[in-house]
Amino acid sequence: MTVTASESAASRAAQVLSRPVTLNGLTVPNRIVMAPMTRMFSPGGVPGEDVLSYYARRAAAGVGLIVTEGTYVGHDSAGESSRVPRFHGEEQLAGWAKVAEAVHAAGGTIVPQLWHIGMVRKPGRPPFHEAPPVGPSGLRIGESEVTGKAMTQQDVDDVVAAFAEAAAAAERIGFDGVELHGAHGYLLDQFLWAGTNRRTDAYGGDPVARAKFAAEIVAAVRSAVSPEFPVIFRYSQWKQEAYDARLAETPEELEAILTPLAAAGVDVFHASTRRYWLPEFEGSDLNLAGWTKKLTGKPVITVGSVGLDGDFIKAFQGEGAALGNLDNLLDRMERDEFDMVAVGRALLQDPEWAAKVLGGRFDELEPYDAASMTRLT
Ligand SMILES: Cc1cc2nc3c(=O)[nH]c(=O)nc-3n(C[C@H](O)[C@H](O)[C@H](O)COP(=O)(O)O)c2cc1C
Repeated sequence: MTVTASESAASRAAQVLSRPVTLNGLTVPNRIVMAPMTRMFSPGGVPGEDVLSYYARRAAAGVGLIVTEGTYVGHDSAGESSRVPRFHGEEQLAGWAKVAEAVHAAGGTIVPQLWHIGMVRKPGRPPFHEAPPVGPSGLRIGESEVTGKAMTQQDVDDVVAAFAEAAAAAERIGFDGVELHGAHGYLLDQFLWAGTNRRTDAYGGDPVARAKFAAEIVAAVRSAVSPEFPVIFRYSQWKQEAYDARLAETPEELEAILTPLAAAGVDVFHASTRRYWLPEFEGSDLNLAGWTKKLTGKPVITVGSVGLDGDFIKAFQGEGAALGNLDNLLDRMERDEFDMVAVGRALLQDPEWAAKVLGGRFDELEPYDAASMTRLT
């Protein structure tokens, strides 16, 4: 029998992506992760039956690990939308428990992405209207004037406790781990990045000091859950309001930030980039996830335009994206540059994406249509 090029690409995808992987105490059936994506379909912060079906459908179609949309921790300044799910409160957690159960019944694994938006928050929206936006220095990205509250030690301790409580709740109600949202210019990233962290106390200054707040959250989360419960930390160079921002200009700076986080108890890093094929630093082909694995020795998730040819920022401007091939991704995975791959828009578009890729049904893959942003199917 002659093996055609597309047949061999299909079997390579299946071979590379269908291997199970162990993250601390959790075995994930394959290498495909659903990237966290805010959907705002949870009125009152409660995920309902439609949210449950949306996740369970993707687990049934072969996604190994689902990272939920960002879900607010229990702190008054954590969020701004009443339609973003919350990870505190009886009704909210009862809704989440059903989601976890449904994903397990479909053969998948699931972690909530725990989120505090910090200074990104615009005040005044119910049900969060009374609390001020908070951040390391009260600075919004791109503004030089202080418009929010620079966090006091009490605020720091309250937020650390809120993350730890949410993580404990995640384990109690049946989730498989947690992801801490340390990316994209939200609260943890506001501390990590010198552009928003102007503090002169122990939480500001060099990269290690800027990582102290996130490391305290990791340590508190680690002690609130069982030792084998995986703690994933998502981070990025880019910010929602500053695409070209960088936390670290060199591998040495990146190592200074990641080492205390790993030491505090991170099991897995999730390195968020917009295009996974771009080298992160000069002189090496490694992407941000590749560098993270090399510097920390921890399992790493990559992300960014997997299966598509254009980055996701365009999605927020209502643009679609054409299909891209997986060759470069599979090459990198075969070299063990990273361990898992997270997929965002392609999985919004097509709940069956993982089954199609694992089954070599490449001709059935769909380009990304911006209309999938506003529907929950
Ligand atoms: C609609 C939408 C919502 C998103 N919400 C989140 C979020 O809540 N948390 C997060 O860390 N990233 C969020 N992202 C970023 C994605 O997790 C992912 O990193 C990005 O879409 C790139 O992957 P892709 O190119 O496969 O879409 C969101 C992306 C989209 C398109």
